[in-house]
Amino acid sequence: MENDLVIPRHIAIIMDGNGRWAQKHSLERCEGHRMGAEALKKLIENMRDLPEVKYMTFYAFSTENWKRSEEEVSALMHLLVEFLDMNLSIFMKNDLRLLVTGRLEGMPEEPRSKLKEAIEKTKDNKGLCVIIALNYGGRSEIADAAKAIARKAACGELDPEKVDEKLFAEYLYNPQVPDPDLLIRTSGELRLSNFLLWEISYSEIYVTDTLWPDFDKNELMEAIKSFNKRSRRFGGR
Ligand code: FPP
Repeated sequence: MENDLVIPRHIAIIMDGNGRWAQKHSLERCEGHRMGAEALKKLIENMRDLPEVKYMTFYAFSTENWKRSEEEVSALMHLLVEFLDMNLSIFMKNDLRLLVTGRLEGMPEEPRSKLKEAIEKTKDNKGLCVIIALNYGGRSEIADAAKAIARKAACGELDPEKVDEKLFAEYLYNPQVPDPDLLIRTSGELRLSNFLLWEISYSEIYVTDTLWPDFDKNELMEAIKSFNKRSRRFGGR
């Protein structure tokens, strides 16, 4: 059966429910995030037997997440540094490439330099491209693209009449990455939360009640099976 499945090339995931997972297990919220980072590590490690998936984008920290308590923000930044330190060998062993989407320049110095280092070290890897959305907002991404286009137009390097969907998309954070085919959200909320607003225009959406720390490869296969039952028409008939 699995051999007959159409496998999405790009899967984007809103990793939600770490806090509820912690509450359910009578633990601090930060322990939920720790287990969330562990789930992320295991999943990308297990993707080697699904080589048709070329890109996965994970929503780890939004432009709105700065509003959380200082303690939680700092724990998340610390976890990110730890994740990069501990898992670079897994990226290399599994031929995984790391990319980031979001306003990287707005990230604190330590995670920012670790990210740059890991992006550089993994840049020639040819397997799955793991994109972590950090300080990311879909509206910010669109606004940043509009600003870059406006700057070019203002200094006469770009004819405003030439701005169309294709050109606009070239100014997004990772223009070389194809749009997600499948968007997964864990923990049951039916919201997009400002994630990849431009890129998910025609993505299939799959929501599971499973909390992110419990999400694994079997859950991913369920999402892919559901994706296979959809008929993607991209607005046509
Ligand atoms: C949402 O759960 C999750 C986040 C805001 C952070 C996601 C982070 C991770 C999965 C781990 C860290 C990632 C890396 C790359 C190290 P929530 O806290 O909103 O959960 P709740 O809605 O149940 O409270």
